[in-house]
Amino acid sequence: MPVITRQIGPCFAAEVQGVDLSRPLSPDEIAAIHAGMDRYAVLVLHDQRIDDAQQLAFTRSLGEIEHAIGTSLRAPDEYRLPTTFADVSNLDRDNKIFARDDRRRLFGLGNRLWHSDSSFKAIPAKYSLLHAISVPSRGGNTEFAYMPAAYDALDTETRAEIEDLVCEHSQIFSRQQLGFTDFTDEERARFAPVRQCLVRRHPLTGRRSLYLSSHAGSIVGWPVPEARAFLRDMVEHATQRQFVYAHTWRVGDLVMWDNRQTMHRARPFPAHEPRDMRRTTLMGEAPTVAQVA
Ligand SMILES: [Fe+2]
Repeated sequence: MPVITRQIGPCFAAEVQGVDLSRPLSPDEIAAIHAGMDRYAVLVLHDQRIDDAQQLAFTRSLGEIEHAIGTSLRAPDEYRLPTTFADVSNLDRDNKIFARDDRRRLFGLGNRLWHSDSSFKAIPAKYSLLHAISVPSRGGNTEFAYMPAAYDALDTETRAEIEDLVCEHSQIFSRQQLGFTDFTDEERARFAPVRQCLVRRHPLTGRRSLYLSSHAGSIVGWPVPEARAFLRDMVEHATQRQFVYAHTWRVGDLVMWDNRQTMHRARPFPAHEPRDMRRTTLMGEAPTVAQVA
């Protein structure tokens, strides 16, 4: 049986031992993983020497897969991995490292801003599972911030103010923050904003959390500059060090996180070194708010 062995860093991250993802898990083991994800929001499994098919099988045993179609600037014939994986590596179809100024790499740098995966989709992601195939010699950590604790630390006036706010999320907004604005008309249409509530409740515990992401670029009914300044303050508040766990990767690590309860970001690493990370994603169950046509 999987054993949650020890909490690491803040209260929301833990290591799991006694699981070998190279073989199918029993229903009890799968239930224990889900319970672990409800109790914590980040689980770390070391030394998982698994291939893509085994990662996919494990992910599918937890729920329905979210496909990565049209969410990056890779053209369909440039995919290195099947659409059951989000390719968050810095590698092209032939496993060559992107040139420093490659548009696909620059777009991918958006992952260095705090975000929640697929918050730009009407039904955003539930869990993400990231497996390390190769890691750079230095840097490249992933940091996680725990949004229920960030919510709890807000004063009562702010909690009341944000309770019913709805934000618009798009990858265009996150890239704008990096000065990347060079989108084609087709990409602008593909990355059209979706709406998300700013306060989410955990479906099981009912605990409230902040649903923030650098993809959030406006608040419905607010002037844009005021919304951006407010969201920037919220992200600053929510990513104070007491809410953050920084994961230093080893080859074979599989880290899974709950996007409904956390934000994360990748940290920089040398641009000429490969970082081959493969992400599978579980679909969320429903939109957080009704969408406008
Ligand atoms: Fe991400």
